[in-house]
Amino acid sequence: MTTPDIQTTTRRTVYVETYGCQMNAADTEIVLSVLGEDGYTPTDDLASADVVLLNTCSVRDNAEQRIHGRLTNIAWHKRQRPGMVVGVLGCMAERLRRKLVGDDSIVDVVVGPDEYRALPDLVRDAAGGTRGVAVKLSRVETYDDITPIRTEGISAWLSVMRGCDKFCTFCVVPFTRGRERSRSLDSIVREVEGLVGHGFREVTLLGQNVNSYRWEGRDFADLLAAVADVDAGLRVRYTTSHPQDMSDKLIETMASRRNICEYIHLPVQSGSNRVLRLMNRTYTVEHYLERIEAIDRAMPNAVLSTDIIAGFPTETEEDHRETLELIRRVGYDGAYMFKYSPRENTRAWSMGDDVPEETKGRRLQEIIDLQKEIAHERNQRRVGTVEEVLVEGPSKREDREWRGRTDGNQTVVFPHGDEQIGETIQVRIQRATSATLFGAPLDAEGRERFMPLEVVVAGA
Ligand code: 5AD
Ligand code: SF4
Repeated sequence: MTTPDIQTTTRRTVYVETYGCQMNAADTEIVLSVLGEDGYTPTDDLASADVVLLNTCSVRDNAEQRIHGRLTNIAWHKRQRPGMVVGVLGCMAERLRRKLVGDDSIVDVVVGPDEYRALPDLVRDAAGGTRGVAVKLSRVETYDDITPIRTEGISAWLSVMRGCDKFCTFCVVPFTRGRERSRSLDSIVREVEGLVGHGFREVTLLGQNVNSYRWEGRDFADLLAAVADVDAGLRVRYTTSHPQDMSDKLIETMASRRNICEYIHLPVQSGSNRVLRLMNRTYTVEHYLERIEAIDRAMPNAVLSTDIIAGFPTETEEDHRETLELIRRVGYDGAYMFKYSPRENTRAWSMGDDVPEETKGRRLQEIIDLQKEIAHERNQRRVGTVEEVLVEGPSKREDREWRGRTDGNQTVVFPHGDEQIGETIQVRIQRATSATLFGAPLDAEGRERFMPLEVVVAGA
């Protein structure tokens, strides 16, 4: 779908780099669709592209610094080909706006997350020498009618709602992505039917806070059920949930259908009620743990992950110890762990950034070390079990080893026999690290499939 064929090689080309969350990955596919309608073909070659776009993230300062670094690099390409149009999209475009198109900047267009329909006009103007900035946020834009151009053949991202109204005090997203709004349930179900027709085997429903999904009296649990019922052979995932809204109905819906994957990403951020209050997270540790218990009761094998921030303003050693304690109590399979990064205009910005960098670093490391130990220990318990694995293709390190993912979203590496990409196979787990499971595919009778000779020799 993305490789230009002979007839289209003379068309104009667009190169996009995507940073940050999965919402951005999904938005890039919308951008490619909007520009595709205007005659642009995607390319992987930055040097020859007519239009170069960076779809950016603002959630932490280091994400923005990376983009600034990348723009310096792209400046070199633009000097070789002065006609190249360079654009910054996404959260950083929304946050920095005109600041990105200063006199010495190489940026020609700046487009926020709700203005992608304006891209063809802005690019045309830029090619004619006029720089453009479009950063209006919308209360209604969901790109409902745009079919994303998807570059991968088995797993699809699908945004079901946009924006966030939670206003966690550390977070820039409510300012860069605007107010919450949902896509119509019918259009989502139609798109999922289309995905099944095109051979996709997995769909991940996306939203900054999917539990806030509402469409004509239907909530996220209703949507999840409707999507799962499109095809029992399609794996259905979603991200991200807010612990306050992790309802019994949603948990029951997940447990009620085999093809809804039992993987839950439930960001906790901190294990201290005092810090949670300052973060405006609107739940307590007790509520969070009660929700985890409800999940465990309904889905004892569910895989759980979380997000943690170390060094939020005023965080004490006692708060930090409570975070470590919570991590121990829940026993997460995985976690995304960050140092607090102050973001201008958020409420936490005015609380100061009073935890010294060194303390933040040490606390983050303690959290990472503990989490790694727990994940390792939890994965050892999976050794000997049989997992259903969706085959994704060659593993990163070894051609003869392939990888896939379990229902719980964990990566499994196995010796490659005759499996096809997109096939679902049974794999017996033989060993595990904190991040990866390793196993052997089973045949229909539950026996380990014959191993290719080279692998046996290599392992001898
Ligand atoms: N500093 C550090 N981490 C942050 N996150 C969001 N904002 C910040 C910030 N200012 C983290 C949260 C969120 C994840 C997507 O990014 O943990 O859940
Ligand atoms: Fe940011 Fe909180 Fe909204 Fe997540 S729920 S996007 S952390 S404001």
